[in-house]
Amino acid sequence: MRPHMTAVLAMTADGKIANVHRGAADFGSAADRAHLERQVAQSDAVLIGAKTLRAYGSGMLVHDGELLAARQAQGKSPQTLHIICSRSGQIPPNMAFFRQSLERWLITTSDGAQLWHESQAFQRIWYDQNWPELLAEFYALGLRKIGVLGGGELMASLLAAGVIDDLWLTVCPWIFGGASAPTPVDGPGLLQPVALELLTCEQVANELFLHYQVKR
Ligand SMILES: NC(=O)c1ccc[n+]([C@@H]2O[C@H](COP(=O)([O-])OP(=O)(O)OC[C@H]3O[C@@H](n4cnc5c(N)ncnc54)[C@H](OP(=O)(O)O)[C@@H]3O)[C@@H](O)[C@H]2O)c1
Repeated sequence: MRPHMTAVLAMTADGKIANVHRGAADFGSAADRAHLERQVAQSDAVLIGAKTLRAYGSGMLVHDGELLAARQAQGKSPQTLHIICSRSGQIPPNMAFFRQSLERWLITTSDGAQLWHESQAFQRIWYDQNWPELLAEFYALGLRKIGVLGGGELMASLLAAGVIDDLWLTVCPWIFGGASAPTPVDGPGLLQPVALELLTCEQVANELFLHYQVKR
């Protein structure tokens, strides 16, 4: 058994999740930010790639009163557990992320784990394990729903392992261009294409909110 895995990404009309400078992506509308916050609030944990964390410097907090009340009613902590993926383990310890009031786990390698073993910054550190093993352990620890917040390299790794169940994609009214700008799924390319079924498609002003299920 493993947790249900829902990816949540926003992309431009030309399929980029950030521009060529690979900074924080802030091109979504207030509606898209609210959608992301809702998905985070409904998750037991969020999974974030290290390059995304290094770009933003902070985690994804829930601020909305109703979402916080719903988490409390379910006996959950106010903020969603953040699980960071970093093979190198090189995450600047002075980032705002480490001052935010939330629980943090790290998925890394044995070399990466060495960098943090004397630190209290991450409550749990997992190293040198594959996705099926890790996700089975997360399930055993009570995680039932994980939100995958990107970026494209982490998405590629999870899709290649066959552990993404559904995908929320917001198409935003921008064109960034740039062959090296990140896309929802980067990496070396999937050996097997992943087929999707479109569950819902909602237009809110200039954005499209697409919800896909991964076909098995
Ligand atoms: N528009 C959106 O919705 C959205 C969402 C997320 C991100 N973004 C943007 O996307 C860009 C970052 O995406 P990205 O594709 O370059 O990088 P990413 O997926 O965020 O992070 C890649 C890093 O994650 C770690 N990693 C990846 N797979 C791993 C695995 N299987 N196990 C352990 N660690 C693993 C490695 O960290 P180390 O380098 O530390 O080894 C790798 O370099 C940023 O510009 C960000 O703003 C946009």
